[in-house]
Amino acid sequence: DAAGPLSHRRVLVTAGPTVEPIDPVRFIANRSSGKQGYAIAAALRNLGADVTLVTGPTNEKPPAGINVVRVQTAREMMSASEAALPFDCAVCCAAVADYRPEIETPHKIKKERGGLTDIPLTENPDILKTLSKMTEGRPRLVIGFAAETDDVLGHAEAKRNRKGCDWIVANDVSPGEHCAMGGERNTVILITEDGDEEWPEMSKGEVARKLADRIAGALKGPALV
Ligand code: C5P
Repeated sequence: DAAGPLSHRRVLVTAGPTVEPIDPVRFIANRSSGKQGYAIAAALRNLGADVTLVTGPTNEKPPAGINVVRVQTAREMMSASEAALPFDCAVCCAAVADYRPEIETPHKIKKERGGLTDIPLTENPDILKTLSKMTEGRPRLVIGFAAETDDVLGHAEAKRNRKGCDWIVANDVSPGEHCAMGGERNTVILITEDGDEEWPEMSKGEVARKLADRIAGALKGPALV
């Protein structure tokens, strides 16, 4: 392990979108550049953590010195994350598709047969919720993200309770000049057990470094895993 306040700490970062096939040529996915998650993985590694990045397809170059597991679907992201347990901390940045097509058709659906007007969907596993609610070997610190377009704080606080995670990093993804979605900058609110902290607009790299410092502070004390 590298030296630093997070040396010997194992941290999971999920990042990017998940991609859920409809047929061999089509998929359902979420918008996600992976930038914030990759920056967090790099910042944690720079503090000495042993980082596993479980990532959906993105155009980002994975930071050196971390374990990278590439996945496509939410189910793959879930099982890759579980397979890499235990972790001291999990940071779930991925934009996971909530639903996937119930059946993946092995042949291309032809519009001539009216096949694309109705795609039955089924719910995907929730990685953040699953990790948060683990009864044995739960990561000490589980962090989720909440991308919202309105009532950011209200929705994010409700999400923290619903998912059972420790912290939520909430951001406003309303379209605009400095849109976080795909952009280089982010304005976030960190919601912890101690309340809400609004951070000023900064680069995704700065958000990552600030969050990594907070994680290091929270994981002080003897390693549990
Ligand atoms: O419910 P929603 O998708 O808005 O919650 C966002 C948070 O939950 C993010 O941290 C995301 O990575 C995580 N999530 C997950 N698995 C899902 C859906 C969301 O880990 N199936």
